[in-house]
Amino acid sequence: MSAGDAAPPVSGQAPGQAPGQAPGQAPEWTPDQPMVRLAEVRKSFGDLDVLKGVSMAVMKGEAVCIIGPSGSGKSTLIRCINALTEIDSGSITVEGIEVSDPGLDKLALRRKVGMVFQQYNLFPHKTALENVMMAPVHVLKQPKAEAEARARALIGKVRLEGREDYYPGELSGGQQQRVAIARSLAMSPDVMLFDEVTAALDPETVKEVLVTIQELAEDGMTCILVTHEMGFARRLADRIYFTDNGVIVEHGPPETFFTEAKDPRTRAFLSQIL
Ligand SMILES: Nc1ncnc2c1ncn2[C@@H]1O[C@H](COP(=O)(O)OP(=O)(O)OP(=O)(O)O)[C@@H](O)[C@H]1O
Ligand SMILES: [Mg+2]
Repeated sequence: MSAGDAAPPVSGQAPGQAPGQAPGQAPEWTPDQPMVRLAEVRKSFGDLDVLKGVSMAVMKGEAVCIIGPSGSGKSTLIRCINALTEIDSGSITVEGIEVSDPGLDKLALRRKVGMVFQQYNLFPHKTALENVMMAPVHVLKQPKAEAEARARALIGKVRLEGREDYYPGELSGGQQQRVAIARSLAMSPDVMLFDEVTAALDPETVKEVLVTIQELAEDGMTCILVTHEMGFARRLADRIYFTDNGVIVEHGPPETFFTEAKDPRTRAFLSQIL
């Protein structure tokens, strides 16, 4: 993980386009620029303004946690990053690719951006191994033997060796969620998005999933997580972002965020959950 202070200030930055970049042309992205950058992102559903000008910047190798009350727009924000939800205005770039570009190659974006949800959505009639192999074989057209070797390695990485031939129904919630993480990693993403991935799990299986995520982050994977696990956020994150009512109220490194939050909304939220 790189230091949180490597990121440029997030407020008041100009939207997406790099200097000298022609419209519609992907700029040259280099790792000294934010890997994921949101600038003044707005999104409404009908009359409901869910994102009201959200800006953030995540550098390669950083782990960032987003916390905030229910309904504050956290899931919407991360769904916008891999174009599952279209933004109304502002800019989101992933490695310099503008996500809201009408000509966006969504497959190319989703190869860069892995996402894991609260619901693991594994195919119930496929084994753990088959679930992990599926996208590389069918989407990336990888040769089966190659996809299988990599899937086995990934199942090992999420500490499920020996469970390759189990069906989802034969695995605990925590084990299924780790298969879902391996399935996402099989596409070799550059950044992983996690939306409350432990929220539906029994308390005793939460930890094993958090350990998997922690190991990924320690290996240098860029991670953006929505989580209610504050102890975990504190240990893992380079920066914590607090959202409320469609805006980022404040952000900072965990060492100071939990003890020196400035905004009354952040303090009220933290006093309820800590
Ligand atoms: N597709 C949609 N259509 C209409 N309204 C939506 C849609 N998706 C989200 N919303 C609304 O947008 C608001 C923000 O939802 P979102 O799921 O982003 O919140 P959240 O911060 O993730 O909440 P939670 O902590 O409960 O998961 C909510 O009021 C929700 O009902
Ligand atoms: Mg949510």
